[in-house]
Amino acid sequence: MKTVISTDRVAAVELLRKGEIIALPTETVYGLAGSALNPLAVTKIFEAKERPRFDPLIIHLPNREWIDRIADVPASDRQLICRLTDKFWPGPFTMVLPKLEIVPDIVTAGLNTVAVRLSAHPILAKIVDELDEPLAAPSANRFGSVSPTTAQHVLDELDGRIPLIVDAGPTEYGIESTIVAVQDDRIAVLRRGPITNEQLSRFAEITTAVDTAKISSPGQLPSHYAPKTPLCLINNAEDFFPKKDQRVGLLAWESNANAKRFAAVRNLSDRADLREAAANLFRYLRELDALGLDLIVAERVHSKGLGAAIMDRLERASHR
Ligand code: TXA
Ligand code: MG
Repeated sequence: MKTVISTDRVAAVELLRKGEIIALPTETVYGLAGSALNPLAVTKIFEAKERPRFDPLIIHLPNREWIDRIADVPASDRQLICRLTDKFWPGPFTMVLPKLEIVPDIVTAGLNTVAVRLSAHPILAKIVDELDEPLAAPSANRFGSVSPTTAQHVLDELDGRIPLIVDAGPTEYGIESTIVAVQDDRIAVLRRGPITNEQLSRFAEITTAVDTAKISSPGQLPSHYAPKTPLCLINNAEDFFPKKDQRVGLLAWESNANAKRFAAVRNLSDRADLREAAANLFRYLRELDALGLDLIVAERVHSKGLGAAIMDRLERASHR
């Protein structure tokens, strides 16, 4: 199959209507989308990504009203859920809710919950609105590798496996949405992301310990974001000296390490700006990974606000 990169929205909607899968931009990372209510389309997503069937997908809604067509919002939690969606939708925010019958089991990997999100990306929003059907859309990478933040990254991952990549330039946030579940008036954070715990704690108490009998996030495997090159975390590159003949790449944060020691350096943000760092993170990881180095060292970022979400990705990338 030939994979085309284009900005053709009409072709995108047509392909989706026919049950095909295509890559689309969101404000977080590029997604691999197919009609969420069409089990065959959803199967194609799992196949193209080589994703294990036990890992459920996120559903992107055409609009807010769809939440009650997909999810069985519990009366006891409705108020808090509405306050959260009023504040963070559309945006990089995903909620896990009890699912309704209409959602095919393959989407949720047999769980009785479903992850839903309303994206603020103007192109995705237009496409899903024209289609007037929810889209299942996980990140558009092969399973286990780093999420794509440009159309070219998607091509590198899925060339020949999908007909179309809708190109809208690099994504704004660069890391995946925050995923939460609401339990007994508390917010369980299943995946950290652009909406920070600090922001969420204005609405309710935050828990990171989740009642796994009720809610699990199977995609949160320790090594989920692994580059091919071994990666280790360090506090400060100024104290790191590569071994003789060892080619080491540096993913830098706030250090002024002597760049000559390293085979390649990428600085997450010259201004020590966490938003810029998040937006650059996966692109730089991919660039360093493509150089065939012996090792990538990444400086730890402070774990406040968005820094916690960046550290979450770096820790997973370093796990093997
Ligand atoms: O920003 C994002 O969320 C991107 C864009 C494309 O929307 N999507 C994304 O999808 O990151 P994916 O499939 O790469 O990650 C979805 C995560 C997985 O870790 C999965 O296990 C979890 O969401 N998930 C999905 N449904 C769930 C459910 N019912 N309960 C718990 N976790 C769920
Ligand atoms: Mg993913």
